[in-house]
Amino acid sequence: MTIIVTGGAGFIGSNFIFYMLEKYPDYHIVCLDKLTYAGNLSTLVPIMDNSNFRFVKADICDRAAVYKLFEEEKPDIIVNFAAESHVDRSIETPDIFLKTNIMGTAVLMDACRKYGIKRYHQVSTDEVYGDLPLDRPDMFFTEETPIQTSSPYSSSKAGADLLVLAYHRTYGLPVSISRCSNNYGPYHFPEKLIPLIIANALNDKPLPVYGTGENVRDWLYVKDHCIAIDLIIHNGKIGEIYNVGGHNEMRNIDIVKLICKELGKSERLITFVTDRKGHDLRYAIDPSKIYNELGWFPKTKFKDGIKKTIEWYLNNREWWETIISGEYKNYYEKMYGNR
Ligand code: NAD
Ligand code: TYD
Repeated sequence: MTIIVTGGAGFIGSNFIFYMLEKYPDYHIVCLDKLTYAGNLSTLVPIMDNSNFRFVKADICDRAAVYKLFEEEKPDIIVNFAAESHVDRSIETPDIFLKTNIMGTAVLMDACRKYGIKRYHQVSTDEVYGDLPLDRPDMFFTEETPIQTSSPYSSSKAGADLLVLAYHRTYGLPVSISRCSNNYGPYHFPEKLIPLIIANALNDKPLPVYGTGENVRDWLYVKDHCIAIDLIIHNGKIGEIYNVGGHNEMRNIDIVKLICKELGKSERLITFVTDRKGHDLRYAIDPSKIYNELGWFPKTKFKDGIKKTIEWYLNNREWWETIISGEYKNYYEKMYGNR
């Protein structure tokens, strides 16, 4: 079995590759990644010499490069993680989101049509459903919830999802889609809430909380997401969408306070800053479908997952310190300097 994993030098993609190489020692895993600011080759160093693994630096929008790789590898499955993934960046520069997230997806699926494939899996997000009100804890996103996006990021992911479903209906491409809630865990790029707060707290820097910090996210440990995708690509129904999330809703402010407590840092570091434009209030997944059909449920409880995550950032300072001391410094200054 040969699987091309796009975006495998990023947060979830790299965790997925590690998981798959360990679980399926006979599989050949090929990582295709452009190595944008979010892609980090150092993450993949421990597996670079593994004979079942190959890394290829390429852009999913580069049709010639993608076709060449399909010709060389004759993959059975594609799992597409490659994307521009940060909402705040999408508010600043939407165009690259449309290009990579929509056009790139189309190129990958064209290659699947041309060379034949057992399955194309699109890694999507619960953000395509928009948000839920804060005062309706009884409401959850199901696979039938209408698409109603808020940010250029979520709109580009929704556009890609529609294209994936269209390629299934029009060309009979064997596709599946997973829509997952917020992930956390090792190798999470420090522009996202949890790793940003851990890194700032460790450096005794202000902890920026958007608005009042009451927005709610449904957090899932990254390995549980990897397990879900593994189940879907092997046993999930073709043409179907699966929501992935763990009934683990938390307010941003509570996450930040929890990290302060775990690290023994003062809550006085917390700084309320200007809210994100169009900020989604609450995400919450109903995972009944994937539980009933594939037996998936989240194995890692938040209290354990967040401890493991903090420990990972403590033990891997070089990984994130290299990032925050490089080009990312300019981004941080631009986004938070005068906020
Ligand atoms: P990430 O930003 O950490 O990694 C993205 C990876 O894609 C990077 O390695 C980057 O170099 C690569 N990439 C970007 N543009 C590319 C291009 N044009 N060609 C090839 N490679 C390219 O993202 P992540 O958090 O790991 O998210 C992975 C996927 O999961 C995304 O599709 C995202 O929408 C989805 N998702 C993420 C979350 C989350 O909480 N992080 C939740 C649900 C869904
Ligand atoms: P983020 O990690 O960017 O994920 P997403 O926007 O995809 O959910 O943000 C998670 C939540 O944390 C979101 O409500 C925005 C908020 N947030 C802050 O309050 N401060 C920050 O510095 C960041 C990056 C996010």
